[in-house]
Amino acid sequence: MSDTVVNAKKNAGYYAAGLVADDMVVGLGTGSTVLYTMEKLAERIKSGEINILGIPTSIQTAMRARKLGIPLTTLDEYPDVDIAIDGADQVDPAFNLIKGRGAAQTRERCLAECAKRFVVVVDGSKITQKLSGTVPVEVIPFAMTLVCERLKALGGNPNPREGAKKDGPVITDNGNIEIDCEFGDIDDPKALQTAINNLPGVVSCGIFTEFKEKTVVVVGTESGIEIL
Ligand code: A5P
Repeated sequence: MSDTVVNAKKNAGYYAAGLVADDMVVGLGTGSTVLYTMEKLAERIKSGEINILGIPTSIQTAMRARKLGIPLTTLDEYPDVDIAIDGADQVDPAFNLIKGRGAAQTRERCLAECAKRFVVVVDGSKITQKLSGTVPVEVIPFAMTLVCERLKALGGNPNPREGAKKDGPVITDNGNIEIDCEFGDIDDPKALQTAINNLPGVVSCGIFTEFKEKTVVVVGTESGIEIL
């Protein structure tokens, strides 16, 4: 990753941490940009400026939070979340998103659903006129072949994601398979999201179209941020 991208992620992540106030319940997304948010939150907690409870969207985020000293709770304890902060893989001008590069989109969707505000932190490379990226789809293992067939019927090219340091498929934090599906340009993200999420055996896909009204997109640049 170039220094420019690192600085952009840092600026976006740090800015979002400044939106968190004392006593808030905070959805903690997954990925490299939210890591910077978590670092800044940890600083603010250590200095006594804020007390918060975080709800992690992945095992990775929970491990990082514990290391950084961010107190954690669960969605069962706190189903009303003040703010969720998360990264994205693509963002279009209408705030349709593709998420799930880290295979965490199911829990990320739960946190976005429960949050009053959904803050998306990205560097400029994620902004696009039209969604066209790989669409991650979490699927119960029993239905892998069925879902691949149905994704093909929807015009996709599905491939179960392979582990980098594990033979065979990636198993998600929920014990499922992650399928990466290429659709090329996505003309109607909402229709595709609905079609995929309605397939039997699909837990959740990475297209997010339903949170626009509460979404703020923070785009990090080399020297600062832009709010969309
Ligand atoms: C996790 O599954 C993803 O949805 C991430 O939030 C997304 O891929 C953004 O990650 P980065 O901040 O690392 O780019």
